[in-house]
Amino acid sequence: MTTLTLVQGDLTRESADALVNAANSSLLGGGGVDGAIHRRGGPAILEECRRLRAGHLGKGLPTGQAVATTAGDLEARWVIHTVGPVYSDTEDRSGLLASCYRASLRVADELGARTVAFPAISTGVYRWPVDDAARIAVETVRGAATSVAEVRFVLFDDRAYAAFAARAG
Ligand code: APR
Repeated sequence: MTTLTLVQGDLTRESADALVNAANSSLLGGGGVDGAIHRRGGPAILEECRRLRAGHLGKGLPTGQAVATTAGDLEARWVIHTVGPVYSDTEDRSGLLASCYRASLRVADELGARTVAFPAISTGVYRWPVDDAARIAVETVRGAATSVAEVRFVLFDDRAYAAFAARAG
């Protein structure tokens, strides 16, 4: 049974087995959560991302997929990088957003991670409306067959927190 918890705050200050990064396909950093994770996690994370790009992820990480690296100086054992879809009002990409949560939990299970902290994937630079993103996130995690004991949604602002609380309540 997976417990869902909600926290309002900065993902990079959380302590968990795995922290999920809202990355982009390049895996080479960016703004938002991605920027914060690399800033606080230190160069070891980017070094491992570069090795992934030099190896089996030569073309980058496809949208909806997930891959783990060290968490560097963060209070976690791993960072699970996942690439959310950019919101589109002409194309329904909900399946790709759901896949980010499902794939991240699958990677967490492979690692034996018992606590996993997620940001609100795609709701920043990728412009996904936060209410709909919260619906997809909570439904997907609730429906996932996973050994993860706690999924913690770490929301950066009041609006995101309220959106997730309305769904996970
Ligand atoms: N902790 C928790 N949540 C955060 C933090 C943080 N330190 N910083 C930002 N957020 C929130 C944002 O407010 C938003 O609700 O995370 C959510 C996701 O926003 P982004 O980080 O912009 O991620 P996303 O929308 O998935 O866009 C990914 O942005 O940073 C780049 O490299 C990244 O190209 C990729 C794109």
